[in-house]
Amino acid sequence: MRIDIISAVPKLLESPFNHSIIKRAKENGFLEIKIHDLRNYGLGNYKQIDDTQFGGGAGMVLMIEPITNCIKKLQSERKYDEVIYMTPDAKTLNQTTANTLSLRENILILTGHYKGIDQRIRDKYITKEISIGDYVLTGGELAAAVLVDSIVRLIPGVIGDEQSALTDSFQDNLLSPPVYTRPAEFEGMKVPEILLSGNFPKIDEWRTEKAYERTKEIRPDLLKD
Ligand code: ADE
Repeated sequence: MRIDIISAVPKLLESPFNHSIIKRAKENGFLEIKIHDLRNYGLGNYKQIDDTQFGGGAGMVLMIEPITNCIKKLQSERKYDEVIYMTPDAKTLNQTTANTLSLRENILILTGHYKGIDQRIRDKYITKEISIGDYVLTGGELAAAVLVDSIVRLIPGVIGDEQSALTDSFQDNLLSPPVYTRPAEFEGMKVPEILLSGNFPKIDEWRTEKAYERTKEIRPDLLKD
């Protein structure tokens, strides 16, 4: 998979993709990530990328020309399966979306700043808009990092133990059951007996039951479907 990200503050994206599973995915050839500095496509001597909004109101808007020029350049080099815009005024990211996107070949992600981007970019180029939650970040970069992380770990082969990604919270609309590791007893707190029993059908049953209990208590909305 190849992921291109357009950002007005590319430094924010220097670190998130250079550690742990994402780093290994890149090293093992599953993934290529390229960050593009919108400022390089800015207008005039000052490399302007934002301007005040028509109709008045506080906050700057990312301009149509620099973004268009950047998207056109990237689209001349490869065909993108999705052009995604990270924005709080969109549908919220969920595991289904992450699963779908993990099967794509080339993804282009545009991150906004200030008041957002000129609407005409959204109308013309964006194929999918994604929010990571009902709160507003200073920019879309951290949201893009969250999106990329959620996708990359699902690319077949990236996580060694495939089963591990398949049993995550949300994969079957349930939260994960509790997990434990050694020691079996610590300061009087014991690991549930069933997990030490070696009876794997029973353990599966217990885990499903706990997953339902947790989901019912914390996220009953997930059980509605
Ligand atoms: N940019 C600013 N806030 C955001 C959010 N919640 N999700 C995605 N992009 C954003």
